Amino acid sequence: MSTQINTEENFAAQLNEDSLTFGQLVEWLQSQTTPPSIEEITARLTQVQITSTDLQPYLGFKEGNYWRHRVCRNQSVEMLVICWRPGQKTPIHDHNGSHGVVRVQEGLMWETMFTYEDAQGLRYKSGRECPTSEVTGAAEPDIHQLGNPDVSGQDLITIHVYAPPLGVLKTYKVGSANVDLYTPNDFPTD
Ligand SMILES: [Fe+2]
Repeated sequence: MSTQINTEENFAAQLNEDSLTFGQLVEWLQSQTTPPSIEEITARLTQVQITSTDLQPYLGFKEGNYWRHRVCRNQSVEMLVICWRPGQKTPIHDHNGSHGVVRVQEGLMWETMFTYEDAQGLRYKSGRECPTSEVTGAAEPDIHQLGNPDVSGQDLITIHVYAPPLGVLKTYKVGSANVDLYTPNDFPTD
């Protein structure tokens, strides 16, 4: 009998280990008192099961620009849901000290990577396609651009976790050594 109970307990523990709800993810983020590592965030964004009911409060599209919806933020970490119509994309930017992990929840995301040197300015490095369910991390020195390609023919919904929360970012232009500042929080988030 006791063996049976143990087996059931083990099974429940295993299930718990293998799945994470949206609510549990938010709870974990809110409990962080120092910025979690890119590996810790990636593991949870890969593991989490997100339902359409979970996402409902954070869905909304605009015609002019992608729309950022904040789920939670404390001093260590923040989470956003971003909704993109085809053709909408970020400026080319870095994360100015934060690392970030993105999960493609629905649709198709394009990520373009760049390098920057004082002499040559910003140059294209590589581009790639991230399909639904892919989880991708950006370490602190990366310069990139994210977007929903205009030829995708579908909306894009992405989940973003940044640690620490994004502050003022640097933005870049291809072939230019000019660096501007960009505060993503200037955009409405709810
Ligand atoms: Fe970014």
